[in-house]
Amino acid sequence: MSNVRPESMERITTEALAEAFIAEQVAALRAQVGEKKVLLALSGGVDSSVVAALLIKAIGKQLVCVHVNHGLLRKGEPEQVIEVFRHQMDANLVYVDAVDRFLDKLAGVEEPEKKRKIIGAEFIRVFEEEARKLDGIEFLAQGTIYPDILESGPVKAHHNVGGLPEDLQFELVEPLKFLFKDEVRVVGKALGLPDGMVYRQPFPGPGLGVRCLGAITRDRLEAVRESDAILREEFQKNGLEGKVWQYFTIVPDFKSVGVKEGKRSFEWSVIIRAVNTKDAMTATVEDVPFALLQHITARITAEVKGVNRVCYDLTPKPTGTIEWE
Ligand code: XMP
Repeated sequence: MSNVRPESMERITTEALAEAFIAEQVAALRAQVGEKKVLLALSGGVDSSVVAALLIKAIGKQLVCVHVNHGLLRKGEPEQVIEVFRHQMDANLVYVDAVDRFLDKLAGVEEPEKKRKIIGAEFIRVFEEEARKLDGIEFLAQGTIYPDILESGPVKAHHNVGGLPEDLQFELVEPLKFLFKDEVRVVGKALGLPDGMVYRQPFPGPGLGVRCLGAITRDRLEAVRESDAILREEFQKNGLEGKVWQYFTIVPDFKSVGVKEGKRSFEWSVIIRAVNTKDAMTATVEDVPFALLQHITARITAEVKGVNRVCYDLTPKPTGTIEWE
């Protein structure tokens, strides 16, 4: 099949156009899949969630979604996947708690590229194990979108960890492969996915693993997750959600001295990053109101265990990258 978007394809900008796309894809998916089963790795990100919703509409329980919790997801994400897909959409969802497995593999590994490779390879392994437990799967659905094919976006270029073994080669189902991200969101909305999922900011595949610098430890990972949740809550409350392109926290692997409850404390720091960009190749720093930064700092130092200091990263890309790693 061609990997070039047909010239005749209209840009999906409205609900009516999304409905037409959905109807066309539902018919095409039913024709392609028939009575067979389809497997999908459902991370809860925009692309895999929209593929899932589309396939659920087309083939219902013939779709088997596998959600692997590798312990590096943001606060509330696995719960949201279960709530939306299992409870609201009545999907066939396999939830795999692989937290200990990933964290054990990552223990003591400091080098960023090694961490990425371990996370990617372990993900494939867990997914493969789940696939082997299932009978009658002939298709593998993927949330490939047009920028992935064009390779213009840096976002999925990092997914370079190999694939499933030879004996598990399924026929691919890629219903979004000609869509741009904004179109995927319009389609997701029309399929009834919640805004929190459809308008989600980008999130790297290796998740919080790239924001917990150096060797990942459970205490610092929890500090990243909790501080990120506070930042997201405050951005949402203060009208910055949907306005700022990407925002998150980082916990480096060094401690500094501070004072807590009248005593010296030797604890971790949290760094806040909030950037705007068009294509992630360059980025500018969001001018977050100073009072809000102070408020977030007060909350993080009060609520997140083991943290005594918060910094705001003022570096654009270049010279910084968006993530710290
Ligand atoms: P950098 O840090 O290179 O990041 O300026 C550019 C954009 O890419 C995202 N990113 C990833 N996205 N898988 C992804 O899907 C990854 O492994 C990955 N690593 C970085 C990053 O969040 C930013 O939006």
